[in-house]
Amino acid sequence: LVGAAREALAKLVVDVPDFPEPGILFKDITPLLADHSGFAAVVAALAAAGCDADGTPVVDKVVGMEARGFILAAPVALALGTGFVPVRKAGKLPRHTHAVSYALEYGEATLELHQDSVEPGDRVLLVDDVLATGGTARATRELIEACGGTAHGLTVLMELGFLAGRDAVGDLAVSTLMTV
Ligand code: PRP
Repeated sequence: LVGAAREALAKLVVDVPDFPEPGILFKDITPLLADHSGFAAVVAALAAAGCDADGTPVVDKVVGMEARGFILAAPVALALGTGFVPVRKAGKLPRHTHAVSYALEYGEATLELHQDSVEPGDRVLLVDDVLATGGTARATRELIEACGGTAHGLTVLMELGFLAGRDAVGDLAVSTLMTV
């Protein structure tokens, strides 16, 4: 996304000071999601990360991370002609899962993926709303690789550049529509 299109979308992301805790400036994307042309532009731009230079889809699956990642990843999967696969927080998926735990500022988080949801050899696009510290993306990549798939790249609506998540995800290709 460039120029005017990016600015128009940025206006639909509302800054909310002191949410969920004092000192945090929360980026609320719900006005953007509620705007049909904004939502459509975001989905199309994210889907481009799963295509080659000619615009042909090159991925087999799209993975979205709970919860806000689901909202974006599902329409991206349909746009690319693939299935959608959820990565969920611990204890939500009912069948055999792979699980990866990672450190948070306080404590740890665990993400899970159904073992049969990504097949060996699948090329997988990761889609989320925000890249912050990169912990979620790194864990998701590990889950995909535990199934025998490969991460084609991560595409996000917004990157919080000051948290250096890009550095935390190693050689995973990252594309982002907006950087804060
Ligand atoms: C947010 C966001 C990303 C993740 C990014 O999810 O939607 O998934 O944090 O942070 P990281 O790069 O530091 O890992 P959150 O865990 O708040 O869950 P939610 O989507 O259910 O609100």
